[in-house]
Amino acid sequence: MRNTLAIRPLTEMSRPGYRAARFPTPDVPDHAPADVLPAGALAAAPPELPELTEPDVIRHFTNLSTLNMSVDTHFYPLGSCTMKYNPKRHERLAGLPGIGDPHPYRDEADLQGMLQILHELQGMLAEISGLPAVSLQPAAGAQGELTALLTAAAYFRDRGEGEQRRKVIFPSSAHGTNPASAALAGFDTVQLKPTKTGLTDLDELASKVGEDTAVFMITNPNTLGLFEKDIEAITALLHDHGALVYIDGANMNAILGLTRPGDFGGDMMHYNVHKTFTGPHGGGGPGAGPIAVRDFLGPYLPGPVVKKVGGTPERPEFALHTPSKSIGRVRSHFGNVGILLRGYFYLRTLAAAGMRDVSERAVLNANYLRSKLKDVLEIPHPAPCMHEFVASASRSKKNRQISAMDVAKRLLDYGVHAPTVYFPLDVPEALMIEPTETESKATLDQFADIVRDILTKEDAETVKTAPHTTPVRRPDEVKAARQPVLCGVAKGCGTVPVDEVTVSA
Ligand SMILES: Cc1ncc(COP(=O)(O)O)c(C=O)c1O
Repeated sequence: MRNTLAIRPLTEMSRPGYRAARFPTPDVPDHAPADVLPAGALAAAPPELPELTEPDVIRHFTNLSTLNMSVDTHFYPLGSCTMKYNPKRHERLAGLPGIGDPHPYRDEADLQGMLQILHELQGMLAEISGLPAVSLQPAAGAQGELTALLTAAAYFRDRGEGEQRRKVIFPSSAHGTNPASAALAGFDTVQLKPTKTGLTDLDELASKVGEDTAVFMITNPNTLGLFEKDIEAITALLHDHGALVYIDGANMNAILGLTRPGDFGGDMMHYNVHKTFTGPHGGGGPGAGPIAVRDFLGPYLPGPVVKKVGGTPERPEFALHTPSKSIGRVRSHFGNVGILLRGYFYLRTLAAAGMRDVSERAVLNANYLRSKLKDVLEIPHPAPCMHEFVASASRSKKNRQISAMDVAKRLLDYGVHAPTVYFPLDVPEALMIEPTETESKATLDQFADIVRDILTKEDAETVKTAPHTTPVRRPDEVKAARQPVLCGVAKGCGTVPVDEVTVSA
């Protein structure tokens, strides 16, 4: 049961004189701060912090920590984000002494074990993608995109085509990070029109591609959960014009061991280790977005990469190496090693056959759920889906005024995290559902029953005013973004009382 007493604002819980511990008076000479610090650096008065006992503080934060949904506590079918269960075995292995704690500034000679692991990981990511040169540096998918585009820009500059190739093209269903990364890397962005099939229209693409095209960015399966079946023709078209193809690998969960970006013509890609290989996401990070590229792009990759430099088969030696025409570092040290290690152990546990199994089950689960929901939600793209699908609540919005947002909010009352809503933008009232391979049939059946009840049995007013059981009801999302209440622990601030949160209609 939620302890509402402990989740009141800290300032309200404060009592004068309460504290966690009292320390004995020190028996060493005391220096007044004014003796050692310049006058300007001294505060006129101590900060007004709440005064609390240790159990008060522990209960406050422990109770707050249980108010969030997480993949360890709730079913989390958040499309595009691949919130699959993170096996605890890999958490434990990644934290083992000697693996989780070597300091990156130690000598390379002392870091040989870590370098071997990272070298093996580079090899596995090259093998899975069919793209042989790998950099582990980027710390998120979006940073991987930016890094690969900077790598492509360096390649074109080197060929004397830097001024000419200014355009990056992407489909309308692309994740928002694709055009953002292209713009950040200094390219002009060109978006294709949405199509009825949800797939890239070759004719439209052909009309936009030219000698000024640097890169075409495409997610496969795309963000509608559909496999771009013309991908070989698409990549051939780009290559005929001397351009490169970037595969956004965020959806690799659908194709592991089944096909490879390098085999269908991709030149560069990023992985989302925190999605595909079960690294925890955690508040927008920490993540890892390693990139894999074709051989001819390898010299431009950010450094350092790990290279095998000799030794014996029993005791190989490894060194950090900066590629000859490297774009430079994009992150400190060797990347976000904590997440890379979890990905490494996941890959070692499952091996090649296990990888294929992951994708086959992810695709099976998504298709099962899609077919269970197709009579209560519209499915705008009828082809079988890959690891996720996009449904639309348009019919229910029209007939009962229940929108995608209402369904998402009501799901919270059932202890289910909402699917992604209103993305991709091409689909009205979109609900993007990704069950992932780690969920059982029983969970999928329960979820389908809940959605069915919400859409067909529940009173519309109950759904439209949901959630009813969460600590914060339905915030006005525009106001929350424009006028955020940024709370600390100082007096006059604190957690916003539930009844002060605006409930929008
Ligand atoms: C298709 C796609 N591309 C790129 C990204 C960006 O990845 P990250 O959130 O790690 O920056 C995501 C994230 O969900 C995604 O779904």
